[in-house]
Amino acid sequence: MKKSEILFLKQEEVIAAGLLDMKQAIEVAEYTFKLLGEGKIIQPNKIFLGIPDNENWESYGMSMPAYIGGENPVIGFKWAAESVYNSTQPDMPYGLDMVLLSDPKTMYPKAIMDGTIITAMRTSATAGVCAKYTARKDSKVAALIGAGVIGRTMIMAMMEAVPSLEEIRIVDLDLAKAEAMAKEFEGKYHVVPYSDAKAACDGADLVVTETTSRKEFIPKDWLKKNATIIQMEAHSYEKDVICSADHIFLDSWDQMIHLPGHVFQIMHDDGMISRDQIMHVHDLATGTAKGRENDDEFVFCGSYGMGCLDLTIADKLYHNALEMGLGTKLVQWDNPLWI
Ligand SMILES: NC(=O)c1ccc[n+]([C@@H]2O[C@H](COP(=O)([O-])OP(=O)(O)OC[C@H]3O[C@@H](n4cnc5c(N)ncnc54)[C@H](O)[C@@H]3O)[C@@H](O)[C@H]2O)c1
Repeated sequence: MKKSEILFLKQEEVIAAGLLDMKQAIEVAEYTFKLLGEGKIIQPNKIFLGIPDNENWESYGMSMPAYIGGENPVIGFKWAAESVYNSTQPDMPYGLDMVLLSDPKTMYPKAIMDGTIITAMRTSATAGVCAKYTARKDSKVAALIGAGVIGRTMIMAMMEAVPSLEEIRIVDLDLAKAEAMAKEFEGKYHVVPYSDAKAACDGADLVVTETTSRKEFIPKDWLKKNATIIQMEAHSYEKDVICSADHIFLDSWDQMIHLPGHVFQIMHDDGMISRDQIMHVHDLATGTAKGRENDDEFVFCGSYGMGCLDLTIADKLYHNALEMGLGTKLVQWDNPLWI
C-alpha cells in the first residue's frame, strides 16, 4: 500500500524554501500565464462564500482550484480568506490562505502549506508581468496605493519588473503605515511615503492600487496621459479610467464579470464594456498581444487573482523544501479503511 504522505510547511518554512525571491516569482507567474494561454491549465471559476452575504461580506472564504498541465503537472486549490475584523486589529493579517497540492494521477495529497505570503508574492508578481509588458521603458516614478501586505510585495515587484524606476511613492490613508514601509526599504530603493493619493499620482508613470477601499476613488484627471494603471482589487478607479484606456489587460475577464460588485461585472451588465475590448495577461505571456505599443498610450491592467499561480509557486516551493529537508511529514492514514 502506497502511503499518503503529506508535507506540511508553515509560513517560516515556505519562506525558507525561497518564497521571497521576487525575480523567481515573476518568472513562475509568467510561465504560468503562458501555460494558461496554451490551454494547459484547467481552472474553474472560484467559489466565493461571503459572510453574512457575498455583497456585504465582513469575512469570506474562497475556494480556488486548478489543474496545471505541462512538464510538472499538479492539481490542488488555494483556500483564500479575508477578514475585515482582522484589519481593525494590530496583530492579525487581513488575508489568511492555505494551499493544498495533490498528484494529478493518484490524487494523493502531497503538500499543505501556508499560502498567505504566497498570495502576496504571486499577486504582485502578476502586476510585475503586467508592468513588464505595459510600462513605458522610460518610467521613472510609480505610485503604489495601499501600504498593506500586497503593497510591500508590490514595491519588490515593480522594482524588479521596471528597472528604470527611480522613485516609488507608497500611499496609505494611514501615513504612519506608509512611513514604516518606506523605512523598511531604506538603503535599497527610493521609497517616499504619502497619504494623499492625488499628490502621489501626479506625474506618476505607473499607478498600482492594492487597497481595501470599497469604492472608486481615483478619477481620470489625477493620472498622467500615458501612464500604465494596474488595479489589484475590485474597484479603485472611476469607470472612465477604464473606458479611456488604449489597451485593457485582465487576468480573468470571466471571473471578474461574475463577481458581484466588481467594476467589470458592473460595467459589463451596464453595457459599458464587452469581451472584445479586453485582452488577457496570458496573451502577453504567449506573445499573442504586444502590450504597450508606443509611449503615448494609456494602458489599464486589472487582476482578480488566480489559483493556478498559487499552485505553480507552491509546487516550486514544495520541491525546494523536499531538497532542503524542510517541513513536517504527515500521513493521511496508517491503513485506509474500506478500500
Ligand atoms: N488580485 C489579486 O490577486 C489579489 C490578491 C490578494 C489581495 N488582493 C486585494 O489587494 C487588496 C490589499 O490587500 P492587503 O492584504 O494588502 O490588505 P491590507 O489590509 O494589508 O492593506 C490595505 C491597505 O490599503 C489601505 N487603504 C484602504 N483604502 C485606501 C485608500 N482609499 N487610499 C489609500 N490607502 C487605502 C489601508 O489603510 C491598508 O493599509 C485587497 O483589496 C485584496 O482583496 C488582490
